[in-house]
Amino acid sequence: MNNTLEEVKSILRKYNQEHLLNHIDSLDENKKKVLLNQILDIDFELINSLYANTKKDIEFNNDKIEPMEYLDKYKLNEEFKYYEGIGKQAIKNGKLAAVTMAGGQGTRLGHLGPKGTYDIGLDSHKSLFELLSESLKEEGKKYGVTIPWFIMTSRENNEETLKFFEKNKFFGYRKDKDIFFFIQGELPMIDTEGKVLVGEDGLIKQAADGHGGIYESLVKSGMTEKMRQLDVEWVFIGGVDNCLVKMVDPVLMGVAIDKNVTVACKSIVKANPHEKVGVFCKRNGRPSVIEYSEISSDMAEAVDANGELLYGESHILCNLFSIDAVERMGATPLPYHSAYKKAKYIDSEGNLIVPDSPNAYKFEAFLFDAFGEVDDMAILRVKREEEFAPVKNADDAGVDCPSTARDLYEKFYKLK
Ligand code: UD1
Repeated sequence: MNNTLEEVKSILRKYNQEHLLNHIDSLDENKKKVLLNQILDIDFELINSLYANTKKDIEFNNDKIEPMEYLDKYKLNEEFKYYEGIGKQAIKNGKLAAVTMAGGQGTRLGHLGPKGTYDIGLDSHKSLFELLSESLKEEGKKYGVTIPWFIMTSRENNEETLKFFEKNKFFGYRKDKDIFFFIQGELPMIDTEGKVLVGEDGLIKQAADGHGGIYESLVKSGMTEKMRQLDVEWVFIGGVDNCLVKMVDPVLMGVAIDKNVTVACKSIVKANPHEKVGVFCKRNGRPSVIEYSEISSDMAEAVDANGELLYGESHILCNLFSIDAVERMGATPLPYHSAYKKAKYIDSEGNLIVPDSPNAYKFEAFLFDAFGEVDDMAILRVKREEEFAPVKNADDAGVDCPSTARDLYEKFYKLK
């Protein structure tokens, strides 16, 4: 322990982060060890470069950004049946697995637990997890298979998520046979001076590192290996917060297989130039998404000769990958984006600080930053009212909130 302590001290001196040990004496032996190991695990060079990046404006440098071509699912005419046939066969043969990203907390929603446990207020009071599980089971039945379901949690919400599933008997799935859980990665949070924060528990304040870590987590946690054992070839990855997410789509699969692409994504037409969705584009000739927080107003509002938004194909986090692509992406580091957030922490005098405005940076990788890795991908435009009912905000926001999602869900399933 003494040797470790000395090693840690010298690292902290080098990176000017010595405050992290200010209160180590108040921790019990176990926590002391955890803290030292956490510090040894931190890549301070990475932290320094992430901090430096928070000072830079987002710019697309000299990137050449262009609109992306897409197929409209409902204008495919006779090709619709052709793609559907290919996809149906692959699903019947058990080639598809579904992954739900459920690592986020429902902070914007004002929900205290894991987002998937949220009840959007349907008469049935079913949680998002239950709604997703039902649609996945129903779709599987159509093809005589159980689609294996993989759920990504975070350290923050893993235990609670598992308890919730246990309480609900995994909604009929069999744990470790056709439903699997894995935990996403984390990164330390830093203040505006680049200092790593200490959390209320006296340990390093860490936050989920964004869904871009999903590829690496799928590989490292052994999930891709499980998928291979199950003979899976295609992996649908979607968010937990879209109660109309269509995880099983034979047309999307058929397009991917027929066009021999390793990634196929769904898009919907952007509702208005400033809707909070990322949009597909080509960046230096390669597939990409520009996030809503990073697109300029000019680009968001640009229209073509028909008056349609040039960058109007919204990314709805409904993406299909070949298992090879997932594994390849898992081996390539992605850039991190910073978000300025409110974070409680223990200051260097040992006081708990509860800020009422943002005070710290959190770093997240985005799954779509891996899209540039692939030579080509297919985009399939689908109908918003059939596939996109996001639950992001509390009801007072008026958009992407429980009441709007509930209406869309009830309309689609003709419940009212
Ligand atoms: C996201 C997309 C945006 C897209 C929109 C569609 C990002 C960065 N942007 O925006 O391009 O148009 O959805 O609804 O994703 N999650 C994790 N772990 C994390 C972070 C997020 O599992 O560390 C999960 C969340 O539980 C959720 C999904 O990823 O299911 C989306 O995350 P969120 O941060 O809510 O993204 P949005 O800002 O809504």
